[in-house]
Amino acid sequence: MIISFLQTKGGTGKTTLAKCLAFSRTFRDSFDSIGLVELDPQGSIQAWHSQRDNGRRPHKVGFVSLLDSSPEVLKEKLEYLSGMYQVLLLDIPGESTGKLTTRLGASVSDLVLIPMRTSTNDEQSFSDHILPILEKVLAIDPEKGKTFHIVPTFVHPQANPENIHAYFTEIMPDTIGCLNSCLPSRSVFENFSREGATLSEYAASVKKNARHTSQVHRAIDDIERIAKEILTLTP
Ligand SMILES: Nc1ncnc2c1ncn2[C@@H]1O[C@H](COP(=O)(O)OP(=O)(O)O)[C@@H](O)[C@H]1O
Ligand SMILES: [Mg+2]
Repeated sequence: MIISFLQTKGGTGKTTLAKCLAFSRTFRDSFDSIGLVELDPQGSIQAWHSQRDNGRRPHKVGFVSLLDSSPEVLKEKLEYLSGMYQVLLLDIPGESTGKLTTRLGASVSDLVLIPMRTSTNDEQSFSDHILPILEKVLAIDPEKGKTFHIVPTFVHPQANPENIHAYFTEIMPDTIGCLNSCLPSRSVFENFSREGATLSEYAASVKKNARHTSQVHRAIDDIERIAKEILTLTP
């Protein structure tokens, strides 16, 4: 199974979601092996992963960097990796790297998650850059419509997720779904990953600080909620 995080606009939460979901309790309980695949030449997962010391790498989650390949070669490599891992999470690069990887991600994935903020800027970028690519994929395979879902990100922590869901459902074409769960804006998501930590490792490191502990547990709950919803959407 292939799940990709796709958004031509940078800074919407693709890498954060890919990383956190790969190491989530829900995914680790549901899959024997999880491949976290970075296709983004910025290499932010690689930089983070290289800081992780081997001793604390959970064996179920593997990291693979796939760079500098043509779409044909990438497709072959992904097929090979699909045989190695039960689920692959693909961090697809933003627009600077061109549309080919976005199109590849949209066509090879069983689930395409599109992190998006409720901003006119992101909405414009979606219509201009992502929708035309998704429409091309749909023209070839209309069934793919079931695989495209918005994940609302940077949501105000006090906002009602039902309202956010209703908002995106209203503005999106019928072929694009929207998760019921969203990723709230939380400073923990900016801070946890120093020194290559995962959210749960960060939680262990701030155990003595009640305020940080409650914040990181909220973030963990956000991720687990999204992970559980993703499982209901996968074949
Ligand atoms: N829900 C969130 N709340 C607060 N900060 C976040 C959240 N998600 C991501 N960030 C931060 O925003 C920045 C961009 O996120 P990132 O996941 O790297 O986006 P992308 O991969 O789409 O460019 C990073 O510094 C990240 O730590
Ligand atoms: Mg990124």
